[in-house]
Amino acid sequence: MLDELERTLFDEERIRTRIADMGRQIARDYREDKLLLIGVLKGAFIFLADLVRAISIPVGIDFVGVSSYGTHTKSTGVVRIVKDLDAPIAGNNVLVVEDIVDTGLTLSYLATLFRERGPKSLRICTFLDKPERREIPLAVDYVGFTIPNEFVVGYGLDYNGRYRNLPIVATLKPSVYSKS
Ligand code: PRP
Repeated sequence: MLDELERTLFDEERIRTRIADMGRQIARDYREDKLLLIGVLKGAFIFLADLVRAISIPVGIDFVGVSSYGTHTKSTGVVRIVKDLDAPIAGNNVLVVEDIVDTGLTLSYLATLFRERGPKSLRICTFLDKPERREIPLAVDYVGFTIPNEFVVGYGLDYNGRYRNLPIVATLKPSVYSKS
């Protein structure tokens, strides 16, 4: 797997340091206010797991599973919910946790859906942000790293279902794409 990588953008140390900062910031912002983190599957599972351990206040955790209908869906912004939240979110301070914001369509859809359920507040936290790719305006409240328009894998992000378990964020060699 490692010989298929081209360039490391963020190594484990850099990721750990940044997430520690984000966790401190989130704990400060919410203090005693009850916080519910919602991870967006699958990509966010690793970031969420590390982020919660960097937050020193009590948090609730839930997950939503989304699936796009391929590239067509990405352009229409229609997202299929394959696993809904386990519990109502009315009255909760909700923080939606993503691995990456690209066009913004997925989170825009989810934010609208969740707002209709009456949370006390709703904010968005993403590990990576690719603002150059944005197709819809989206207010992102916490960003781990802003990256250029490059395809990256690792730390939850996949290519054809692979590389999610890489502990770093990296680009792939062009030969990997030509094989598939
Ligand atoms: C990725 C990511 C976001 C979405 C962002 O999910 O986890 O959910 O794309 O893209 P957007 O801003 O253009 O909507 P993906 O569809 O790759 O599914 P996964 O999380 O299961 O890998």
